[in-house]
Amino acid sequence: MDKFIVQGGLKLFGAAEIQAAKNAVLPLLAASVLTDEKVILHNVPSISDVENMLHILSELGCVITRAQGSVIIDGKNAVSHELPASLTRELRSSVFMLGSVLTRFHRAKISYPGGCDIGLRPIDLHLSGLKRLGVTIIEENGYVICSADKIRGADILLDFPSVGATENIMLAAVKAEGETVIRNAAKEPEIADLQNFLLSMGAKVKGAGSGTVIIEGVKALHGVEYTPIRDRIEAGTFLIAAACCGGEIETRGVTEENIAALLHKLRENGCKITVKGDKIRLQSSGRLKSASLVQTLPFPGFPTDLQAQYTALSATARGTTVVEENLFETRYKYAGELKKMGADVTVRGRTAVIRGVDKLHGASVTASDLRGGAALVIAALNAEGESNVFDLSHIDRGYALFSEKLSGLGARIRRVKA
Ligand code: UD1
Repeated sequence: MDKFIVQGGLKLFGAAEIQAAKNAVLPLLAASVLTDEKVILHNVPSISDVENMLHILSELGCVITRAQGSVIIDGKNAVSHELPASLTRELRSSVFMLGSVLTRFHRAKISYPGGCDIGLRPIDLHLSGLKRLGVTIIEENGYVICSADKIRGADILLDFPSVGATENIMLAAVKAEGETVIRNAAKEPEIADLQNFLLSMGAKVKGAGSGTVIIEGVKALHGVEYTPIRDRIEAGTFLIAAACCGGEIETRGVTEENIAALLHKLRENGCKITVKGDKIRLQSSGRLKSASLVQTLPFPGFPTDLQAQYTALSATARGTTVVEENLFETRYKYAGELKKMGADVTVRGRTAVIRGVDKLHGASVTASDLRGGAALVIAALNAEGESNVFDLSHIDRGYALFSEKLSGLGARIRRVKA
């Protein structure tokens, strides 16, 4: 297994090209089985979550071809409605396949999905939504078995604006008989991207981003060539790194409106931020003042996927920061590792209190989830001396060429066999 060796204390300068969003690409890959024609996706990042999803598609019988960052999915010969347990346990997003596999085969079988260990992450909202569409669901021996001779449009009110449940119901409803309305739908930009993708396939969908998504079932969907939106979480990770290390960087590909909650906080921290189209430029002295309270919330609130990185930033901001995690139960596992670097973090349930210290120091730390791992790298870049960050498999789930991109910004980081 690989590790990063990081020499901290350097400022970051330069421009970072942002990859396509993991959380856009995964549902689009799930959606590719909706048609038996070719789906071509461009700018697909080489991350292990994507590799797993492609593996699942090929197990279903799709033929996958890759060429220079693009992926072609040919679902003509897809035959299976059973998602392989060994892969779905690795990847929570495999649950999005329920909706599209059901649409294609009228049946779907999946084992309970895995993914980051950051809390319970139930799928009750996905399943109750599918039931409303007339799908019969049997749960036995760790498997969810779905079937529906006919999927019928329905009015569905989500108890919580779940991203995955919204996407899954959209995928199940695109060829349903009649109209489906999803109320209290998630508003994340990746939902709008899925809508655009489905529209390009010939689906009738509207409202994504507004909280109410309306899908009028169509008879057939065709192939599509599509470039997904860029990754606001990757961009946010680089901006946070430059904010606490100091320097001046520009991210390219993500618009202000998709990352406004973070930019608002970084300005409160004392960073200078200017935006031109999809270019965000951040200047920081590295001496930040703390923001008072950061609460993670569904979009457009502060994203839970930037909570860990922002806590790492707060570790050396002057004053005290209170972070409240409202999406997932156990998303502070990295806090113990930050303490090894000298951070003063106290976690009580959903709340972390971070008292800013002057400096962090290098240490050996281990990632235990994707964004927590990114937070440890940020802390290592900001720390005095050398750090080793172990268990990069978590970071590889969501960041392609992470150390290379950071090196491009002037960081001293290299990947070696541990
Ligand atoms: C997606 C993102 C993930 C992000 C999260 C929240 C993808 C591939 N992943 O995950 O990176 O952290 O949104 O922005 O897009 N819940 C239920 N029942 C359900 C579904 C969800 O109780 O059936 C709860 C979850 O436990 C959690 C909350 O709803 O507390 C949010 O989950 P959800 O929005 O569904 O997140 P994901 O789609 O899993």
